[in-house]
Amino acid sequence: MKKCFGYVLIVLMLTTLANKGICSNVGSGVSTSDITGTWRLDMVQRGNVVLSSYFIIHQDNNTFDGTIVINGAVDLKFIKPHFEGNEAVFNTNWNRDYRLRRDGDKLHVTIVYPREKPEEGTAIRVPEEETTPPKLIPLPELVNVPRNGLALTPPMGWNSWNHFGSNVDDSIVRAAADKLVSSGLAAAGYSYINIDDCWEGSRDINGRIIPNGKFPDMKALAGYVHARGLKLGIYSSPGPLTCGGFAGSYGYEEQDAKTYASWGIDYLKYDWCSAARVYTNDQLQAAFQKMGSALANCGRPIVYSLCEYGMGDVWKWGSQVGANLWRTTGDIQDNWKSMSDIGFNQSLLAGYAGPGHWNDPDMLEVGNGGMTEPEYRTHFSLWCLLAAPLMAGNDLSTMSAGTLAILSNKEVIAVDQDPLGRQALTVLKNENTHILVKDMKDGSKAVGLFNTESLPTTITLNFSDIKVTGRQKIRDLWLHKDLGNFDTNYEAKVEPHAVVLITVKAVGK
Ligand code: GLA
Repeated sequence: MKKCFGYVLIVLMLTTLANKGICSNVGSGVSTSDITGTWRLDMVQRGNVVLSSYFIIHQDNNTFDGTIVINGAVDLKFIKPHFEGNEAVFNTNWNRDYRLRRDGDKLHVTIVYPREKPEEGTAIRVPEEETTPPKLIPLPELVNVPRNGLALTPPMGWNSWNHFGSNVDDSIVRAAADKLVSSGLAAAGYSYINIDDCWEGSRDINGRIIPNGKFPDMKALAGYVHARGLKLGIYSSPGPLTCGGFAGSYGYEEQDAKTYASWGIDYLKYDWCSAARVYTNDQLQAAFQKMGSALANCGRPIVYSLCEYGMGDVWKWGSQVGANLWRTTGDIQDNWKSMSDIGFNQSLLAGYAGPGHWNDPDMLEVGNGGMTEPEYRTHFSLWCLLAAPLMAGNDLSTMSAGTLAILSNKEVIAVDQDPLGRQALTVLKNENTHILVKDMKDGSKAVGLFNTESLPTTITLNFSDIKVTGRQKIRDLWLHKDLGNFDTNYEAKVEPHAVVLITVKAVGK
């Protein structure tokens, strides 16, 4: 007993010293504070939602390395891991620093963001197997899932992610539906109200997915949205967890499709995320086909939107899995570089877009504050020329008149929604100029003259470059003005990061 008490005392003393950083090996090589192992950090976020991050760390004396697995969905490698005093410090490509401090048998974690205040939490040691992905459920043979006949023009609507991220809730979705109607956007063609990630809760004993506390009644929410003449979209993943770490559809594909149908869901965005931990990249098609078949058999028409960041040449097989659209790129950010890098690099995929099956360069950032109005006009014009799905991603309730004017410009939307369903081709590209041309059903062409640099420039459109001959009538779709008739070319002054968007139509036709 005495011996035992002495042992406990020594352990207690060592722990206290370690806690104070005095006996820490961090930087010194003593094993009591070794941070090697698998640690789980549970952070309660968004009401009753718990997000778990696993830190898988290997320490070798005074160096360490590792990975963070955010709820099995995202793997982040440690960048520049090093010790600062008794803290293990590293960055991640999610633009946040982590500071870890061994605190007895716990790990004290501080997450430091560039502009927000740091978050703190305590991670506990867990068995390594907790991070092991589930066993592979055999995939189906590849087949052609029948077309659902939906999205004959690119889908238009609003999605919660770009502005609200994980804060989305029932009231935000209802307010978005109300505002889509009262602002006139619904009349301009926007019809989907799409809930992105972070609505999911757990599964009941029968495996049925239950929304988390922020969505008390999904069927009632669908009823609210439908009563306004709109449609409701939802989000899931072929993996066990979504990118935000919520329950995905892995192993529950058919049941989830039926549940969505029973709620009255009209659109599913299906995001690869943690599927990467279960499947290899050459299984993308079969994994997405599983949900495609499930939707085809769920008894309700549901638009199927794939989100796989452009992996696996999805445009070559997306329509075979029953998809109506597929992401061609990584996530858009609300800045000029991200938007223009995406928008001006879609031309090679033009041949894969058409009625019922569209390339998706990601959702709109118009009105989110990171770009100027001319830049947002460029963004919107580009997406319309690309026949891209138009998912507004801003807070509709606080949108400025300028943002509304961009999103609701009917002449520009008509370019996107043209029933021929062609995606624009790039006909000229140099250091400051891009010219994109889109064939329209009435025989005219929509043409974007883009200035990508920071000084005003003059852009000349030679009619021979867009294969038109004879006298052409030019109309400016932002000024809503006919600019006159021209014989061989049209010259426009274009402001920095701006666009002149015109239609070119043979006179007399
Ligand atoms: C991925 C997608 C985004 C969004 C988030 C949600 O990053 O590409 O569009 O859906 O997941 O977690």
